[in-house]
Amino acid sequence: MAIGRQQVAFIRELYGTRLRVAYQGHVRRNPAARLLLEAGRQDPYPIYEQIRRRGLLVPTPLGNHATVSHAACNEVLRSRNFGVGQTEGRDNQLSLLDLDPPDHTRLRRLVAPDFTSRRIPAFAPRVQSVLDDLIKKLPRDEPFDLVSSFAAPLPIAVITDLLGIPDANAEEFAMHGARFGSALGGIQSLAHARELMATRARLAEIFTEIFELRRQEPKDDLIGRIVAANQSSTEAVRPEEMVPLCTLLLIAGFETTVNLIGNTVLALLSHPDQWRLFTEQPELADKVVEEGLRYDPPVQRTGRMAMVDTEVLGRPVARGEFVMTALGGANRDPAVFTDPGRFDITRSNAGEHLSFSGGIHYCVGAPLARLEASMALRTIATEFPDLQPAGKRVRRAGSLIRGMQHFPVSVPRARQTTIV
Ligand code: HEM
Repeated sequence: MAIGRQQVAFIRELYGTRLRVAYQGHVRRNPAARLLLEAGRQDPYPIYEQIRRRGLLVPTPLGNHATVSHAACNEVLRSRNFGVGQTEGRDNQLSLLDLDPPDHTRLRRLVAPDFTSRRIPAFAPRVQSVLDDLIKKLPRDEPFDLVSSFAAPLPIAVITDLLGIPDANAEEFAMHGARFGSALGGIQSLAHARELMATRARLAEIFTEIFELRRQEPKDDLIGRIVAANQSSTEAVRPEEMVPLCTLLLIAGFETTVNLIGNTVLALLSHPDQWRLFTEQPELADKVVEEGLRYDPPVQRTGRMAMVDTEVLGRPVARGEFVMTALGGANRDPAVFTDPGRFDITRSNAGEHLSFSGGIHYCVGAPLARLEASMALRTIATEFPDLQPAGKRVRRAGSLIRGMQHFPVSVPRARQTTIV
């Protein structure tokens, strides 16, 4: 197939940026560039400390600022002087995440009521029944992959239920999620771009079909309400906004939670005293989730563009400049967390982490993620107190979403608990 002019421009831009990052990271050892390379994917935490030593707001070779300061991240994320830099005519594929007010406010108002901490506990019985099913199916006499057998199917089942997607195929959605998730940190190649386009097209097909079903037969689920809002006289959601909104809710609904479960189990098994404490006191599950979110968050960074000439904690930032807020670095800020590199499930202020971001884009799904992760981790700790790693873990592609693609674990046979 011949390559068109647009593709050539795309490839030049893509490889130009990659070359700049590689040169700055490998040759100049610039920490902000190293975050985007293999070193950042494997272990970003020492790199955050290098950035912290350089100052509050550190210029990056890619023309931005980076910060690992909890106070600076908080200020940037909450300030109305910063936005995502929504541009007219862009396809806004990430819906809310790509939008500034007033479009952001309009769409957020439509979906937020479904995810409040008042509504979400009603999902506990559904979460428990998915967990019971998954636990029953786990092999007892051989290693299994914690990600594909346990951590991924749970949030996929829950979010597809909540949205109202019938007969969801967990494996297919996991694949779409991984493609979307890896693309958030930047497209890696032309093949990667093609995969992403195929995923977007497939999800659009799935959602368009459900929209049509809901038009013919209205139903009181989230997709049903989105369709009704589009048909109402105020048109609270425009037709072209519907697929991106549902895609975001779907992907954000499981791509992150799967990694919260995986990362927290890894942290627990790597700290046997903390794992023992948790298996002895499973009621600590909510605290384990907060410390898991703080210690190794699934979303490592986000960023905002200055909409006007402004300041961050007294440092000037010019209009149009971008500040990369390293959430994983902010969570290890010694100004907020004592001995921040220590994984401590009894930490009293773990909940001050920025893993769900802050300000108007604060994660809509935080109560759901907390419920699912807390119940999943409690189940693992009570059913498999002797759980242990069993082989080579494979990290996901990309450094923005942090987690494992494969995490083999096993339960020593002699010490398994009886599960009916
Ligand atoms: C551990 C799990 C999760 C983590 C770590 C997480 C993290 C985040 C972060 C960091 C943001 C904001 C990004 C930014 O400021 O640029 C965000 C936004 C969002 N999250 Fe989550 N998320 C999780 C689970 C969920 C779940 C279960 C849902 C369910 C639908 C969800 C839906 C969303 C949506 C819709 C937004 C966009 C909000 C807006 O722009 O107004 N997330 N999430």
